[in-house]
Parts: sequence; C-alpha cells; structure tokens
Amino acid sequence: MTNKKIVFSGIQPSGVIHLGNYLGAIKQWIDLQDKYFSIFCIVDMHAITVQQEPEELQKNIRELAAIYLASGLDPKKAIIFVQSDVSAHTELAWVLNCNTQMGELERMTQFKDKSQRHKQNINAGLFTYPALMAADILLYQTNKVPVGEDQRQHVELTRDIAHRVNNKYGQVFEEPEALLPEVGARIMGLDDPTSKMSKSASSGNNYIAMTDEPDKIRKKIMKAVTDSGSEVKFDEEKKPAISNLLTIYSLVTEKNIKSLEKEYAGKGYGDFKKGLAEAVVEFIEPIQKKYKEYIDDQPKLEKILTNGAKEAAKLAQPTMENVRKVVGLGVAND
Ligand code: AMP
Ligand code: TRP
Repeated sequence: MTNKKIVFSGIQPSGVIHLGNYLGAIKQWIDLQDKYFSIFCIVDMHAITVQQEPEELQKNIRELAAIYLASGLDPKKAIIFVQSDVSAHTELAWVLNCNTQMGELERMTQFKDKSQRHKQNINAGLFTYPALMAADILLYQTNKVPVGEDQRQHVELTRDIAHRVNNKYGQVFEEPEALLPEVGARIMGLDDPTSKMSKSASSGNNYIAMTDEPDKIRKKIMKAVTDSGSEVKFDEEKKPAISNLLTIYSLVTEKNIKSLEKEYAGKGYGDFKKGLAEAVVEFIEPIQKKYKEYIDDQPKLEKILTNGAKEAAKLAQPTMENVRKVVGLGVAND
C-alpha cells in the first residue's frame, strides 16, 4: 500500500484530554505525519470498557476529533477515524484474544489499576482490552506506535502476540515497536508529582485540560505543588515537582531546560509559575481557537471521520482476509 513506514496510534474518548496526552502522544504525531504513513484513531470501543453515557460518549468522540485536528493533525497527510466505524478491529481482536494467554493479560498494570478503580465493573472487556489494542495496531501492518510511557507494556504485548501468530501461521503481521518521546513520555500530576497526570485523577487540579479556560490554567498552575527549597532546578529525585513543571515549560516553549534554569536563576517559584502559566496559555490558546471552529462545524468533522473510516477499512481488508485464510475461518466468497 505504501513504501513508507506505518505509524498508528489512538486515544480513548473518555473525558478530558489533558496536556499529558498532548505532550506524551499528540505532539509526536504532528511531526510523524510528514514522514510516515500515519493513521490516528479515536478508540471508542476501548472507552466502553468502563461505564459510559451514550450521549456523553458521542460528544467525547467529536471533541477528541476536534482536538486532533486543532492540534495540527491533517486529514490530507494522515488517516483520522473512529475505531468502531471499522468493524475489522473487533473482528481481528477476537482472533488475537484466542492467541493471548490469561497470564499475559493478568500482568498488565493498566488492568490492575483500572480493576482497582472500577471494582463494581471488572468486565471481560477490561481484561482483554490489550488484545483489541493489538488488533488496532496489527491490522495496518504498523511499524511504529507513538505513545506515552504508560502504554509501552501494551505495545510490547502486541509485539509478542504478532510474533506468536507469525510463528504459527507464517508472516501475517509486522512486529511493531513503541515510539516514546525523549522528553514528556510521563508528565506528572500538578497536585502530585509522584503519579502521572491523569484524566481519572480525583481532583481537577491534577491536570490541565486542553479545553481549560486561560484563567483556569493560570489558577491550576499557581496551585501546583512545589518542592522544598526555592531554586528552579531540574532534579527529578530531589525536586520532582519543579522538574515536571520545567519539562512542561520546555515542551510548550521549545526552550531547553538549561536555559529556563538560567532565566529563573535567583528568582523564586512564584515568578517561575507565573512565567509557566503564561507560556502554557500562549501555547494552548491557538489550539483552542481552532478547536472551537471544528466543534462549530459538525458536518465538516463528520465528513473527515467518514472519509477516514472508508480509507482505514480499505487498508485493513487485506490483513483481515489473510488472517481468515491462514487461520482457516469461513467459507463464503464475496
Ligand atoms: P489515554 O488518555 O489513556 O487514552 O492515553 C492517550 C495517550 O496519552 C497515550 O499514548 C498515553 O500514553 C498518553 N498519556 C496519557 N497520560 C500521559 C501522561 N501523564 N504523560 C505522558 N503521556 C500520557
Ligand atoms: N490503550 C491506549 C491508551 O489507553 C489507547 C489505544 C488503543 C492505543 N489502541 C491503541 C494506543 C493503538 C496506540 C495504538 O492510551
């Protein structure tokens, strides 16, 4: 289908999209779409592994699509679509489920985490979630999967599953690799620099949502936890909070951390946070402006996603047909 290497990634439309999602994942995608054959998905089937309100889910899908586009993903360069619009994802997921061991799934930290948090709904989908993610990736003969640190384990499992299927049935899948950003693969919570920024955090002060109003952003940053001492210095061990804020500052301004340390030498945390707040606002405002344009033009949004789904379905077909053939499934032709 193409000589270029193939990139695939996705985000769940399950609530706010925060700066960690942007810096860990989307930021890389923007650059990758120029060099690679890129496919970016809104993984709504993954989102229903936890309880979702139908109207909310529809709204979240559209909002996430608008964030993708407003961030700079370009439907002329990349395929952008919604997972459930291409049925091959769930079809392949079943076959991969039958090639994945319970023990492998039991080791997944995201499952352990989520089953702790949703004790009243530990459904089978939550458990086999990584097999669906493997299907997303393997369906397109993907080479690289740009994600944040927390998804590395899932991509490694995907690679193991691909390898196992290839050993059993011959060359069926490309064996993909995770692509992590050098800086920003794990943005920490503003209210707790020992755990990652997360949409499921108990307090909204944990994260900056991509849609937070400028004043809200300023307030959240001014409230962010800091470390003891007063020097603005990158030291992940002794100064985890300031190091996290420096990382964010550096990524939104493209200034390196050393030069930021110099800029704030002799100044206190207060000045530093003020500077950071303005830098984040300056970075997010143009994205929010474009976001609003996409949200206000639903027909355009739907057209992009519909076209994306058509293209994705076409690309997925040869892999799915081959899987059916090598596994020995089905009888009907056309
Ligand atoms: P999710 O919100 O779990 O669907 O994650 C979407 C993408 O954002 C994945 O590639 C994650 O690895 C990435 N991501 C989520 N949280 C963070 C974070 N705190 N720092 C960096 N990347 C993150
Ligand atoms: N599991 C990923 C997350 O929670 C989302 C995801 C689903 C994904 N399918 C994918 C990421 C395929 C990369 C490639 O963030």
